[in-house]
Amino acid sequence: MRPARVILNAKSSLINTPAWVALQEHYNKTKKVHMLDLFEEDPQRFENFSIEFKSMLLDYSKNRVTKKTMKLLFDLAKQANVEEWRDRMFAGEKINTTEGRAVLHTALRNRSDKPIFVDDENVMPKVNAELEKARIFSEKVRSGQWIGYAGLPITDVVNIGIGGSDLGPNMVCRALSPYKHNNIRVHFVSNVDGSHIEQMLGKLRPETTLFIVASKTFTTQETITNANTAKNWFMSGTGRVTEDDISKHFVAVSTNAKKVAEFGIDPENMFEFWDWVGGRYSLWSTVGLASIIYVGMANFKKMLEGAHEMDAHFQEAPLEENIPVILAMLGVWYGNFYGAESSAVLPYDHYLRLLPAYLEQADMESNGKSVDREGLQTTYTTGKVIWGAEGINGQHAFYQLLHQGTRLIPTDFIASVQSHNEHEHHSDILASNFLAQTEALMRGRNIDETREQLKNSGVELHKAENRLPHMIFEGNQPSNSIVIKKLTPRALGRLIAMYEHKIFVQGIVWNLNSYDQWGVELGKNLAKNILEELDSGDDIHSHDSSTKGLLNWYRKYKKPS
Ligand code: F6P
Repeated sequence: MRPARVILNAKSSLINTPAWVALQEHYNKTKKVHMLDLFEEDPQRFENFSIEFKSMLLDYSKNRVTKKTMKLLFDLAKQANVEEWRDRMFAGEKINTTEGRAVLHTALRNRSDKPIFVDDENVMPKVNAELEKARIFSEKVRSGQWIGYAGLPITDVVNIGIGGSDLGPNMVCRALSPYKHNNIRVHFVSNVDGSHIEQMLGKLRPETTLFIVASKTFTTQETITNANTAKNWFMSGTGRVTEDDISKHFVAVSTNAKKVAEFGIDPENMFEFWDWVGGRYSLWSTVGLASIIYVGMANFKKMLEGAHEMDAHFQEAPLEENIPVILAMLGVWYGNFYGAESSAVLPYDHYLRLLPAYLEQADMESNGKSVDREGLQTTYTTGKVIWGAEGINGQHAFYQLLHQGTRLIPTDFIASVQSHNEHEHHSDILASNFLAQTEALMRGRNIDETREQLKNSGVELHKAENRLPHMIFEGNQPSNSIVIKKLTPRALGRLIAMYEHKIFVQGIVWNLNSYDQWGVELGKNLAKNILEELDSGDDIHSHDSSTKGLLNWYRKYKKPS
């Protein structure tokens, strides 16, 4: 017999705990409630279920919750000791137990004078020193003082990285592009598919390009492969290969000084961060170097300050008024009780278009787990599928399913009021659509309203009867509206930190370690063996018949005909 996949047959007992059971009973009684009735019953519903923080508004009134639901959800958070765990994280305790690490991305944006200790060392001096090093470097690049091998200033910065070493800084650059440097472009290469780097290099000149190789481990196959290709391109393009030339065009961001030196990057040109920063939480560190160069250190620091403000809110606000906690518990409500499988992030701001992709990693790599902290199998669902796209484009693509599909998909609408462009009319159209969508999802449209509408538009009702059922909207689709005054660096910092803490709270409620990612290992290991098999001429005997069949087919057609 095959050995069991989970070592212990023991299962988590979370679903039998008092707070969970109380929520289950409450769900059984209230599951049919329609939000429209809740709005009718409580004229103050918006005031009762919304919260303002700095220049941000969270309206969560369009959710299938009552005050009682929220109370029971907060009871569950309390039962899970969310506050205690939060304090342990901020204090630098090693809450990432499977890797024996602290979880301190919050130290990277600690703008107070408070020391933060890991293994009895105050980490703040080195955090600040690294930021200062990045400031000096970025200012040289931005001012044109950093000169390439041919005596020319840098015009193009290419970040080579993947996952957390790509998605975060890329998203920040796009989000803050109104603050960008006028003469410097940034590019991101992540995919090991040679087409990605080939297309990129085709647009660049070696004498004015700076490569940032960003990798926490500096062992990631995709990144090192792309970095080597870039180095070869640089060397062949320059026609000269001195260490000095390379050091003017290649810098690294990593925790692994040894590997960086082996690659041939001068340790002087390495920006450091530490093992207590998870890759998907690293955009606040020098992993953000590309964004620091692009928008300048002053703006980057404002982003850190915004995140620090959200950290303070998360630490100080009571659970009932705590934005990340509210969002997290709403997610638990839909995922664990209503059985929602996914959740969509829908920014109504073009500059936030990469936020959904960033949050996919942040959330799914953190909470996509089925074994709890004690090594017990969970008997409840954990991280949801996170997906999304710019709202307005999504309306013309997948919103049909949100409005009339069979699934419950809670949504986060994110909008900013003051845009960075001069086209006021565009902004109003955008805002009206955001508002209309959340209203439509909540209200729906019943048969009488549909008939009325048809009549008003001049349609003869007897001719439209068969169309009627298709035009009815059940409504009752939950959404959060997160509205910010303007997408500034500070506002962006608050927004990202808000989601990070939401993910943290959910991980605590589900009793997970949100800061490891063992699930990415197996495929990586298998790929190493397969890579050797692809290159060898030997007959393949290992693998299941599907993998073997695919491998052989690939080899057959890979051979030049
Ligand atoms: O394979 C997943 C992962 O380890 C992510 O967690 C990480 O963000 C990404 O790969 C890149 O890792 P690195 O920064 O070490 O290259």
